[in-house]
Amino acid sequence: MKRTGGTDEQKRRAGESAADAVDDGTVVGLGTGSTAATAIRELGRRVDSGLDIRGIPTSYESRQAAREAGIPLVSLAEATPDIAIDGADQVAGFDLIKGGGAAHAREKLVDAAADRFLVVADGTKLAATLDAPVPIEVLPDAEPVVSADLETLGGSPTLRDAERKDGPVVTDNGNLVVDCEFGAIADPAALAADLAGIPGVVEHGLFVDLADEIHVGTETGVDVTER
Ligand code: 5RP
Repeated sequence: MKRTGGTDEQKRRAGESAADAVDDGTVVGLGTGSTAATAIRELGRRVDSGLDIRGIPTSYESRQAAREAGIPLVSLAEATPDIAIDGADQVAGFDLIKGGGAAHAREKLVDAAADRFLVVADGTKLAATLDAPVPIEVLPDAEPVVSADLETLGGSPTLRDAERKDGPVVTDNGNLVVDCEFGAIADPAALAADLAGIPGVVEHGLFVDLADEIHVGTETGVDVTER
């Protein structure tokens, strides 16, 4: 798992706070990344104590974490999530940039399908305006033309390289990821619409207005912002 900012304690507090919001008998979308993993582990402890839930994983990684935690799994084709818990790379209000773990296509599918979407993060993720590179999952053959279209939109795209593998990152869906710098994103909804309109883009990491609650782990506790 990649290493991101914030302490393990801050991430754990955020994850446990979100796990606290999960009711008995519900279906839970299980996000990807180190902060979402703390929620998965906490839910596993609660399942051991009798909590009856089923999880929908958003990646190979979160499926493994859920299996290790003993959370029964179900697919999105079989059940709709009542609640989803997921991390973020950057949070501005209720808008997010996700995809640091290249899982944003399935994450968006599951998070958007949930009745309630809880974001778990540490304070290093908070920003006044989104300005981090936007991860964009693209069909492999489409990468050169998508990158050219991104430059036309004013972005600076970089194909994401794998670690401990020659060549690019390949997603759980068999696609590539381009990280695109746009500087400060003044209108995330407009940029999201532009990105979604590029042929060959499978999914982009702008999550605009999807989140319902933001749980931020701090040095001493958790700050929760609700709509
Ligand atoms: C994966 C994601 C992650 O949720 C995001 O990268 C945050 O990860 P972490 O909690 O490890 O900082 O979007 O695609």
